[in-house]
Amino acid sequence: MSRWRNLSLRVRLTLLYVGLLALLLATLGGALYWDFQNFLLTSTATRLRAQAKPVIDALMTTGDQRAQAQTLARNLTSRDTAALIIAPDGSVIASGKTLPEEPAPPPPDPAHYHRALAGDNEVTYETGPDDDRQLVMLIPWRSAPGGPDILGVIQLSTPLAPIERILWRQKLALGLGIMLTLLAATAGGLWLTSSALRPLSRMTDTCERIAEGDLSQRVNLPERGDEIGRLASAFDHMVARLEAAFQAQRRFVANAAHELRTPLTAIRGSLEVLMRGAQDDPASAARLTQGMYREVVRLSRLSEQLLDLSRIGAPAAIHKQPVALTSFFEAFLAQAQLLARERTVSLEPGPDITLFADPDALTEMLFNLVDNAVQHTTEGGVITLGWAAKGDTTELWVADDGEGIAPQDLPHIFEPFYRGDASRSRRQGGSGLGLALVQALAQAHGGRISVSSQPGQGARVAITLPAGMTVTPR
Ligand SMILES: Nc1ncnc2c1ncn2[C@@H]1O[C@H](COP(=O)(O)OP(=O)(O)OP(=O)(O)O)[C@@H](O)[C@H]1O
Ligand SMILES: [Mg+2]
Repeated sequence: MSRWRNLSLRVRLTLLYVGLLALLLATLGGALYWDFQNFLLTSTATRLRAQAKPVIDALMTTGDQRAQAQTLARNLTSRDTAALIIAPDGSVIASGKTLPEEPAPPPPDPAHYHRALAGDNEVTYETGPDDDRQLVMLIPWRSAPGGPDILGVIQLSTPLAPIERILWRQKLALGLGIMLTLLAATAGGLWLTSSALRPLSRMTDTCERIAEGDLSQRVNLPERGDEIGRLASAFDHMVARLEAAFQAQRRFVANAAHELRTPLTAIRGSLEVLMRGAQDDPASAARLTQGMYREVVRLSRLSEQLLDLSRIGAPAAIHKQPVALTSFFEAFLAQAQLLARERTVSLEPGPDITLFADPDALTEMLFNLVDNAVQHTTEGGVITLGWAAKGDTTELWVADDGEGIAPQDLPHIFEPFYRGDASRSRRQGGSGLGLALVQALAQAHGGRISVSSQPGQGARVAITLPAGMTVTPR
């Protein structure tokens, strides 16, 4: 069994299929051959009987029985038929063979002619050595056609050699046909399985190269709609996703390192200046310390954000509970107003909806959106927030009337560390992780985030979450 399993799939499939085909062909060929053999024997027996009947019927047994038997035997004998007339005691009364080319009759067989003597009209049997088989037919010899008196038995025999020759040719043709079919089936099966399975070995090679670390490898099968084609394209798709994920991760780490390095370099520079004696000048010492403090604040915010981002994938990070949006937004509005300083924050309430969500995550998402709105509006700007029922989803949104987002930035603003106007944004302390965090939190809730904006006309960011539990239209 283990040897069978060690064979390649290609050989196993072919062997199985050719084996089944051989079994089927052998059974079918055997049945056909057997049927044909029977047909030949029965038709020969029928022919003998048909030829004999008029001869026997024509000769009535009147007068000398021996002479009658002699004539009968002679008339029944031909180039392929031998005739014997057998007396009830088993002795041969007459034999028809006179010419050398006429076949020799086999000796009477008591086991059979007794049946004919008893009145059986259908005694047929084969006899003789293998190289000289004969078909023998026994007919009761009656005093009148169909009469009750049986005078003896007429034995007709014909050599089976011609039939055997036909059968042998038949066997040869069948055997050769089956062999050729099996050969063709083996070749076809091997070709078919190897062409069907070739993509699999290609995939194995690709897998091995990928395992060695080269994620750019693809199976790249030419378009084919069968199972293997679908497997190969699913495989390529999966590797492409993996490669993208790995690249994103590498970019993420590089960006994170870069973000850490910038404030660290600034702090180090300030410390060096301080150590070189600037601490003696209280004014510049205070300026440098304040600068360092700002950088440290930035660093700790960055590390918080990174930690938050890393936690989101874990299932325990989100603790869902019912959140009634009306009271939630009213409480949040107070925080938003503190954050917005000289800007106006107004609430546009939606219907009474109770969401099943993590309130801390909701606060964090809205906080980030309001923070962005504040960063990108001038003093006196207006920030509006609210929620709405949208089909089977609920939308939480924050809009502002600030500078808006440039079209070339729109596709990228959700990428970690992406900042629209990097220098200004960094001056404002942003690291470009805010929207990435919001997106990750929205996705952890089974929702998504979208943005619409025109440069100079403000921006509107919406978080779409699965429907709330109760919706009471106002
Ligand atoms: N309301 C907005 N108006 C205009 N531009 C925006 C707005 N919100 C986001 N952006 C653009 O999207 C970029 C990415 O925003 P994100 O919140 O991810 O990062 P950030 O605000 O720069 O930094 P962080 O949020 O980490 O402090 C911003 O740099 C800004 O260019
Ligand atoms: Mg932000």
